[in-house]
Amino acid sequence: MRKKVVIANWKMNYDFHDTTFFIRNFLKIVFERKINHNKEIILAPSFPFLHISNQILQGTTLNIAAQNIHHKDKGSYTGEVSASMLKSIGIQKVILGHSERREFFFEKKNILLEKMKIALKYNFNIIFCVGESLYERSNNQQFKTVECQLKETVFQCPSNNIKYFYIAYEPIWAIGTGKTATFEQAQTMHEFIRSLFLEKYGESVSNKISILYGGSINDLNAKDLFSQKDIDGGLVGNSSLQIEKFLKIVQS
Ligand code: 13P
Repeated sequence: MRKKVVIANWKMNYDFHDTTFFIRNFLKIVFERKINHNKEIILAPSFPFLHISNQILQGTTLNIAAQNIHHKDKGSYTGEVSASMLKSIGIQKVILGHSERREFFFEKKNILLEKMKIALKYNFNIIFCVGESLYERSNNQQFKTVECQLKETVFQCPSNNIKYFYIAYEPIWAIGTGKTATFEQAQTMHEFIRSLFLEKYGESVSNKISILYGGSINDLNAKDLFSQKDIDGGLVGNSSLQIEKFLKIVQS
């Protein structure tokens, strides 16, 4: 059985109050309503709130992920945050390759490779994002794009590292647009991604890797998406900012 995973990516939206309010109330509701979610729930707050978030979640089954790390171990990189710093406050997961980092912070293959290397050095779990642009989809290049994104990054790792990864398929045209991929489009891509893992690493790896969908998931479409055989959960942006909506997604 593959792990079912739901991740809240709060991006640059929540301040200290919002972050702690959400986490405390989310836990309270899960407890009061006796919600047996039996999946992995991961919350990704902004850097300044990782420590307090992690402390609040001590002793629960929920986990925290960072939204980014710097690609170097340490040194004169004013304003940056390293993997070892995050490790020192108990953070063990990180999102890498998000299209917003690729687009706004020019993170390309080489930087992503370095980030992956550092993350693996500190035994982080990596939520690695791939996905095509609208132009690429319109020109039927989505499979080529995603294959290339995987080949130049994740597939550079030996098979014993793949257990540290979750893959998130996030078509760029679906992120924050309200235009979700249909469940057929998402399933077809997830099946394709799994077939690439099969080809590269064999059956036991490809059967185990959790492939999440991201891009305008909400409480209404989550069920259809998550019932597809190769969709193992979701990476949720906007809809993870409201407790009740996020809970419904988790319960889907
Ligand atoms: P939305 O759910 O807001 O489309 O964002 C998806 C995303 O980018 C999660 O990482």
